Amino acid sequence: MSEMVAVSARNLYKVFGRKPREVVKRLAAGSARDELTGLGTAAVIDASFEVKQGEIFVVMGLSGSGKSTLIRMLNGLLEPTSGTVEVMGSPISGISDAQLREVRKKNVSMVFQHFALLPHRSVRDNVAYGLEIQGMPLAERRERAERIIQRVGLDGWADKLPAQLSGGMQQRVGLARALAADTDVLLMDEAFSALDPLIRREMQEQLVELQAELGKTIIFITHDLNEAMFLGDRIAVMRDGRIVQVGTPNDILTDPANDYVAQFVQDVDRARVLTAAGVMEPARSVVSVAAGPRAALRAMRDLQTSAAFVVGPGRRLLGVVRDKDVLRLVKANETDLSTVIRNDAATVTGDVHLTDLFESAVESPLPVAVLDAENRLLGAIPRVTLLAALGNVPTTTSELDTIEPAPSVSVETITETLRVTAPNSSTEGTLV
Ligand SMILES: Nc1ncnc2c1ncn2[C@@H]1O[C@H](COP(=O)(O)OP(=O)(O)OP(=O)(O)O)[C@@H](O)[C@H]1O
Ligand SMILES: [Mg+2]
Repeated sequence: MSEMVAVSARNLYKVFGRKPREVVKRLAAGSARDELTGLGTAAVIDASFEVKQGEIFVVMGLSGSGKSTLIRMLNGLLEPTSGTVEVMGSPISGISDAQLREVRKKNVSMVFQHFALLPHRSVRDNVAYGLEIQGMPLAERRERAERIIQRVGLDGWADKLPAQLSGGMQQRVGLARALAADTDVLLMDEAFSALDPLIRREMQEQLVELQAELGKTIIFITHDLNEAMFLGDRIAVMRDGRIVQVGTPNDILTDPANDYVAQFVQDVDRARVLTAAGVMEPARSVVSVAAGPRAALRAMRDLQTSAAFVVGPGRRLLGVVRDKDVLRLVKANETDLSTVIRNDAATVTGDVHLTDLFESAVESPLPVAVLDAENRLLGAIPRVTLLAALGNVPTTTSELDTIEPAPSVSVETITETLRVTAPNSSTEGTLV
């Protein structure tokens, strides 16, 4: 995701009805929306946000909260009553129809809930339709359509008519058509809402894949919280025309701006939303390979655990050591910890969803290690933390025993061994 802004909305209002401007004036002066219904319906009230290039920005809210009205102002389908919209740096309100057509061609395309396919045209020609309007020569637009049809998983279907396709496949055509236009920004209004749950899940996953590959900016509307949480890099929550919170799925789950949002998110499938990085704890049982066996043993004794992560320079994870193995080294006066490092730590990267780390967590006696792309140890997820996160139990780590597994050698044995084997120097390594 770049830091460049793709879409920016400032103080956007849209009021339908008799006296739109009057309503805006009164809202800005503090009147409540409900007091003004005689003058008009305030569908969007004072919405400001920025969507970054390459971001999936989800707008979520109950029916009637103003989502569709908001998104329609982003591609000029609706003129704001007040406020401004910029797409890729250019204003899209107050411009001529010709300019607006240009913006739609180059900058913004839309995928609709009910597909809006042309029934008498083949899949290929539906996908190429926008390119035809743009005046692209036949051979070129067919070639491009073909490529995108493959990309959305419809190879072999190019010559069929929409009615010969299932709902999920028809929406793939809708998506392909929007992608064929190759605009910077894709607007999707409840694009998957008409699909069966399983197909819908599949489409969500494919959209995330496509986005990663093509780097499009996507503004996605849904009233389905799980969908919002799964797709969104950030989510704007709307209520009665206002954006009440903008944040990452994690922000919204763990720090809801108000009771409305909190209630909204209480039934969310947390395992699909929360990420390893979002729930991890600082890894506590960690020793540096350079510190040696004595330091490792001491650390495990002090933390009352039978295992520790071993890191090398730059905090790169090398593996795991067990108290028994390290005790053996210490008894034998060995100084190289690396000889007993095992490779059996369960590891994940920070972006992995909790759903995808249960298996590792169950199989591994140690907390799951969270690593960055360079294998650096960022944190750890003890099983108790995982459970607390899923149950939405606030974890103050002091209350929960987040060090595992339990020691397999007694504290006394370790202390005694350290004492009798102690070198006369004081160059003992320490806990990192
Ligand atoms: N063309 C219109 N004329 C009058 N009122 C409208 C118009 N379009 C929308 N509204 C009203 O504006 C409010 C917001 O509607 P909007 O369609 O944006 O909501 P939504 O969040 O998209 O809802 P849904 O989830 O049902 O699609 C509603 O009260 C709606 O009745
Ligand atoms: Mg709508």
